[in-house]
Amino acid sequence: MNILVIGSGGREHALAWKMAQSPKCDKLYIAPGNGGTGDVATNLDLDPKNHVAVINAVTQYEIDLVVIGPEDPLVNGLADDLKAAHKSLLVVGPGKTGAILEGSKQVAKDFMKKYGVPTAAAEVFDETNIEEGYKFLESLEPPYVLKADGLAAGKGVLITEDLAEAKQNLDDLIINKQFGDASAKVLIEQFLKGIELSVFVLTDGKDYVILPEAKDYKRIGDGDTGLNTGGMGAVSPVVFADKSFMEKVEEQVVKPTVRGIQEEGMDYCGFIFIGLMNQSGEPYVIEYNVRMGDPETEVVIPRIKSDLVELLEAAAEGELAGKELDIEPYTASTVILVSGGYPESYEKGKEIRFKKEIKSVIPFHAGTKIQEGKLVTNGGRVMALTGLGKNMGEALTRCYAAVDLVNWEGMNYRTDIGKDLQKLGQ
Ligand code: AMP
Ligand code: GLY
Repeated sequence: MNILVIGSGGREHALAWKMAQSPKCDKLYIAPGNGGTGDVATNLDLDPKNHVAVINAVTQYEIDLVVIGPEDPLVNGLADDLKAAHKSLLVVGPGKTGAILEGSKQVAKDFMKKYGVPTAAAEVFDETNIEEGYKFLESLEPPYVLKADGLAAGKGVLITEDLAEAKQNLDDLIINKQFGDASAKVLIEQFLKGIELSVFVLTDGKDYVILPEAKDYKRIGDGDTGLNTGGMGAVSPVVFADKSFMEKVEEQVVKPTVRGIQEEGMDYCGFIFIGLMNQSGEPYVIEYNVRMGDPETEVVIPRIKSDLVELLEAAAEGELAGKELDIEPYTASTVILVSGGYPESYEKGKEIRFKKEIKSVIPFHAGTKIQEGKLVTNGGRVMALTGLGKNMGEALTRCYAAVDLVNWEGMNYRTDIGKDLQKLGQ
């Protein structure tokens, strides 16, 4: 079958890399792709925001299956438009009715309450009741967690120990419209204390398979310091996600979530990325995302032994029942190389040089492009170097050996990916 992947990040490069290995994959396209995806697929120069252009590309390239990577096109209804235009097209990625689980934190919270999914208690405020919001903050113990209701490019969660700052944050979000309409409503949420992990599910809306879990490293600096980023590294598996914890996740979180999707009649074929807090051995949902995580995909996908195209095809056809996933026994870790200055302002167009060919890791590109025959930086997160090993130490040694082979002006990365889990015995 001919396949089109939508997106341009490391996540989409990893998905395309895996799908290209399937005997079921004939031609593989990626739109728009990046400077590395051309090695496994044909890059199509089109903007996923332009739904008509994507619809036309499906006709032109005789596409059978579309896999939508990022949240924006999902929340904006690309899956709905594709299916309306091409009746027999297989699409992996929820329609608008499903994508709202990521598009509105209030909807997601109500959904969790309705279906008994454990999560932090929360109240919602807007400009009509902001005074009550201040009072609610006064009634809480710090830290205070404030969340913009809508999509805010991963920056919509503000956490502070200071009550005055929390009130100011509430003003900034609602009155000063920090994230425009996305922060017109704000959730004030109970603080969850524990260790985070990400669990991934592929569902056809009624059945599901659980993918390997992962942990990502969000802060820019070593020791989890500094600003939040899209993710500076990831590892899989996660030592504290043992059999008994994962059974709780499946029973208390995955099953009621899929049941809720079905009972609400949501249009949902695709991935669910469940952000979880392990609080004293109990799982609590921090958030739903309606896609795979980035950089988690760069460690989850290389651990999947099964044919990904076969699985995605089954999901899009509503035939996931009885499907099993074969997982490789090894550990995967990825280190993200970022532009100097990221996640604040940074320069693009820096030439990326390799001391020698990288063989011991899988380089997944993100913010790269080919310019006048040279590979240059084209974003904040530039490249994910994924190492595999029989344990975390081996995987990380491979990652960091490969980091030394790459260079551009201003290149930055974290030196402590996975170190916390190694201390826990992984
Ligand atoms: P999100 O954008 O929902 O993934 O939130 C960003 C980050 O904020 C999460 O990865 C957590 O580290 C943190 N966070 C969100 N909600 C809570 C909460 N209720 N308690 C503690 N930390 C939270
Ligand atoms: N790594 C977090 C995310 O993809 O949202």
